[in-house]
Amino acid sequence: MKTATTARSGPGRAGRPALLPILLAALPAVLAPAAAAEGDPDAVRGLVVDRCARCHLVPDAPAPEVEGMAPPPFSEIAANPRIYSETRLRSFLQRPHWPMQALILSPRDIDDLLAYFRALGGR
Ligand code: HEC
Repeated sequence: MKTATTARSGPGRAGRPALLPILLAALPAVLAPAAAAEGDPDAVRGLVVDRCARCHLVPDAPAPEVEGMAPPPFSEIAANPRIYSETRLRSFLQRPHWPMQALILSPRDIDDLLAYFRALGGR
């Protein structure tokens, strides 16, 4: 029994100091999303015109020609942060919304889109 306990505590003690390099290695990955959360509104202007303006009324893009649906104009989304809060937009944009099933946005795109709506709303 005594030898078994000693044997088990051996690797345990050796394992602990090894945690520090792992934590340090993970640090950039932890910090990166925080930096990206700022978002770059200019990075998604092309995507917005190409992918969103087909249905949404988007500033600086031709009016959409869709029937049978009323997606909110982007100026309305931008002007109403109480309704369209960043939490709501973020969770909404994480999954494709009807009828745009094929649209998958990266976390980076979503950060940039939130910055885009902020800039559009003058914030
Ligand atoms: C094929 C048409 C279509 C395209 C393309 C489209 N949307 Fe939408 N979107 C809709 C419709 C319809 C609604 C309203 C119905 C709903 O809430 O699902 C909507 C609602 C939204 C909303 C409001 C969500 C809420 O909380 O009520 C946001 C934000 C949005 N779209 C963002 C985008 C962005 C960003 C893009 C481009 C990357 C995009 N949409 C492309 C049709 C579209």
